[in-house]
Amino acid sequence: MKLELKGITKRYGSLVANDHIDLTVEQGQIHALLGENGAGKTTLVNVLYGLAQPDEGEILIDGQPQHLGSPSHAIKAGIGMVHQHFMLVPVFTVAENVTLGMERTRVLGLIDRRRTRRDVRELSERYGLQVNPDTLVEDLPVGVQQRVEIVKALLREANVLILDEPTSVLTPGESQELFRIMRELRSGGRSIVFISHKLKEVQEIADTITVIRRGRVVGQRPPTTSDAELASLMVGRSVQLRVTKPPASPGDVRLDVQGLTVAGEEDKSALDEVSFQVRAGEILGVAGVQGNGQTELCEALLGLVPAAAGSVRLEGQDLTHATPRQRLHSGVGYIPEDRQEDGLVAGFSVGENLILDVYNEPPYSSGIALDRGTINKTAAERVADFDIRTTSTATPVGTLSGGNQQKVILAREIGRDVRLLVASQPTRGLDVGSIEFVHRRIVEERDQGVAVLIISSELDEIYALSDRIAVMYEGKITGFRDPDVPPEELGMLMAGASDADAAAFGAAADHGQIAGGEAADETGLMEAGLYGVGLPGVAGNRREPADEGPAAGDGTHADGSDGSGSGSQSGGTQSGGSGSGPADDSGADPE
Ligand SMILES: Nc1ncnc2c1ncn2[C@@H]1O[C@H](COP(=O)(O)OP(=O)(O)O)[C@@H](O)[C@H]1O
Ligand SMILES: [Mg+2]
Repeated sequence: MKLELKGITKRYGSLVANDHIDLTVEQGQIHALLGENGAGKTTLVNVLYGLAQPDEGEILIDGQPQHLGSPSHAIKAGIGMVHQHFMLVPVFTVAENVTLGMERTRVLGLIDRRRTRRDVRELSERYGLQVNPDTLVEDLPVGVQQRVEIVKALLREANVLILDEPTSVLTPGESQELFRIMRELRSGGRSIVFISHKLKEVQEIADTITVIRRGRVVGQRPPTTSDAELASLMVGRSVQLRVTKPPASPGDVRLDVQGLTVAGEEDKSALDEVSFQVRAGEILGVAGVQGNGQTELCEALLGLVPAAAGSVRLEGQDLTHATPRQRLHSGVGYIPEDRQEDGLVAGFSVGENLILDVYNEPPYSSGIALDRGTINKTAAERVADFDIRTTSTATPVGTLSGGNQQKVILAREIGRDVRLLVASQPTRGLDVGSIEFVHRRIVEERDQGVAVLIISSELDEIYALSDRIAVMYEGKITGFRDPDVPPEELGMLMAGASDADAAAFGAAADHGQIAGGEAADETGLMEAGLYGVGLPGVAGNRREPADEGPAAGDGTHADGSDGSGSGSQSGGTQSGGSGSGPADDSGADPE
């Protein structure tokens, strides 16, 4: 089946989300839509799936114009979609979920349930989905839930499958598994529209890449196209993709966190005895799939949620029970994850927001009156420095685009003098050009002696910035690594493997015993439990808290390796040999 979009235009008020988009998806093709946040990718596939009606343009299937007034029309036309946020009912089984809304269960009852379970099993086997029809969806890891959504679309005989940013919720291992499934589907003749803002992913999986910028198609390229070219198409100008980072020269311990615990839902801890240290002049990157305690870690460090146990010290000063304001005054800079919500006052001007924490102090205030001149001058400098697109510093910050609002917070927090910078997802939603700028500024902070803690679910970002890496899983730190760790090994820790298992696996990968890519999919990674189901204690979301000593195998991967990383997929590793960084893992051991 061949799918054609012709001149699709979709407006939201004065905003043109899709501007005369032409796109042809051939049968048996993986067609990537690459674009920045806000480029219009989701809007386009919503039009394709009947969720939004285009203002202009038409959709043709095998040359026939279609009227896709709703998702049920799209489904009838053979189009299936896996949304960015899944639409599953947690307390239902897989089989119940995949037939929700399908007529056959309603009409035929029991007999049909049997057929559904058989169909799910068949599809699961044919495409290696490892989905059991009788499992409750709430018991499944996110990666498997996504596959349930795929089964749902396949049961409805989708010929074209739309995947909207499917990898954003996956570990690297789960992403590889998804890619394998996508290739299987393609060889079965299905087409896939794959949405991503990550260059590496589209280069790896797509047959062809359409780049969308500000609602327009700005080019179609083969997957062999260079990073630089794809990035400049996405952003509209050339960008430097990677910050060059001199080795760190860490000083004294600045942030000392011991046994930090934050209560969570029911009797589970959201943060469970987390211990680590960050030195002056060092960047500790906290990797992990979203929702494994990173948010709580930040909130506890900033005093936004109380610590149930443990301690937080900054330069020896006990801040465990200090208020957020006291912490800011002790020199903590904070870039919150949800910037619109926590970081800005929408009605205040750009200039005012740039000095929000310090407006009542010199040089901005003499005690009674705000010094408008100084405020405006500082604001103008920061607006220029951070390339904040605003008509003036007097513009209310709430009217800026998301990316520009984020730059206002970054400019404020990085712009002032801090002892410790805590940055959560610092570049989420920024374009590639701004990412490069922010990364450079964060490294500069480090080089001026600031202790930096970066929390990011983007592995590229972790690799680009970290001098040391900690991995969080289910509220715990599961291991510390140097930045030359193979991505597969980080992936295992992110999926909940024990420190020792991940290290052993990493050592094997480093020695080329496990080749990257396909071979690894079928052997090592699978056995190691990276791929989800069937391995209790490793894969699921509901792993029982196991009694593992911290840092058992810590660092062993580096010892026996020459650092060449021959067997690993190159990923984002960029650091030199094993001896490069200071292997300071003192934070790993709470005793
Ligand atoms: N329902 C809507 N109402 C108003 N504006 C919208 C709506 N959906 C999307 N937009 C806007 O359209 C633009 C494109 O959004 P979207 O398609 O979600 O981008 P992408 O998926 O590429 O990140 C954005 O500026 C977004 O704010
Ligand atoms: Mg989107």
